[in-house]
Amino acid sequence: MTMATICTHAWSPLQCSLKAPSKTFIKPQKTHSMSPEKKEVFKSLEKWVSQSVLPLVKPVEECWQPHNLLPDSSLPSDEFIHLVKALRDRTAELPDDYLVALVGSMITEEALPTYQTWINKLDGVGDESGSSLSPWAIWSRSWTAEENRHGDLLKTYLYLSGRVDMCMIEKTIQYLIGAGVDVGTENNPYMGFVYTSFQERATFVSHGNLGKLAKERGDLSLARVCGTIAADEKRHENAYVRIVEKLLEVDPTEAMVAIAKMMRRKITMPAHLMHDGQDPHLFDHFSAVAQRIGTYTTNDYIDILEFLIRRWRLEKIEGLTKEGQHAQEFVCGLAPRLRKLEERLDGRTSKIIHKFSWIFNNELSL
Ligand SMILES: [Fe+2]
Ligand SMILES: [Fe+2]
Repeated sequence: MTMATICTHAWSPLQCSLKAPSKTFIKPQKTHSMSPEKKEVFKSLEKWVSQSVLPLVKPVEECWQPHNLLPDSSLPSDEFIHLVKALRDRTAELPDDYLVALVGSMITEEALPTYQTWINKLDGVGDESGSSLSPWAIWSRSWTAEENRHGDLLKTYLYLSGRVDMCMIEKTIQYLIGAGVDVGTENNPYMGFVYTSFQERATFVSHGNLGKLAKERGDLSLARVCGTIAADEKRHENAYVRIVEKLLEVDPTEAMVAIAKMMRRKITMPAHLMHDGQDPHLFDHFSAVAQRIGTYTTNDYIDILEFLIRRWRLEKIEGLTKEGQHAQEFVCGLAPRLRKLEERLDGRTSKIIHKFSWIFNNELSL
């Protein structure tokens, strides 16, 4: 194991220039697909958002902060160093594949500026001024502020561990924020909130699994870190799921069609454009590791779909147009089809060995 305390990669304009990943990653993009009059639906829900969504924001004074879960830097030097040493002793036992999965999750959290930009581009719910008092805007700023702690906490923990190449990780974050995100939501808030419902649950599952594995490996502090973040994700999931549930009530066809559209194009993780300047398929390689060690798998994806179908009682939704009924049929029949496909593919063994820059080019099987 290499203990890197300084950046070992010399800066060069070539290495650090913001070079977008291959254009082949980016699908043709459709924008503003919601008809303008639908903005009224979101305007009419403002009171409901204040009453039913904003209570899910936790007051800052009741929130944990990253420093609460990290070695206390205000302690005398020897006590602080003792705590850092203990952290490094614990993380020394974590395997490289676990670290890759954790780094990938942390990098996803760190691209938060992109997600706030993205959510503000959703028609009818964006923050028009940057400090708008619209309940939709208050929610998205509060959500961002809560999320901001996730990357801070994980990044500092990993930095103190000395187990990962921080310079390559930081470079990946810079590339990723520079590349942006394309999750196919068309600036359409119906599709946007379907996406966030799925995505927040996916991060809840993945941070929860990272926590379980940390516990199994004896790092109880890291397990607590992951569990604490997972609890935030669960609360966020709850908010977005409530929003889609309300949309299904007030505009069932539009909401059902949005769910079907998002599921047809598959829910892509928000860090799918990640790049470290070396590996053009970094996201696929990170995802393969997450699948192999079980932090976020195809089965989790299908479980989330089934959960949302149950939670939104999609099979029971009535009052749909023909288009809405077709969408309902597609979504409600999708999980068993995906499950069958997964069973057929399950058991494949890969002989691919891959080097990850985040762990000093150590090799992992995918
Ligand atoms: Fe998060
Ligand atoms: Fe989240």
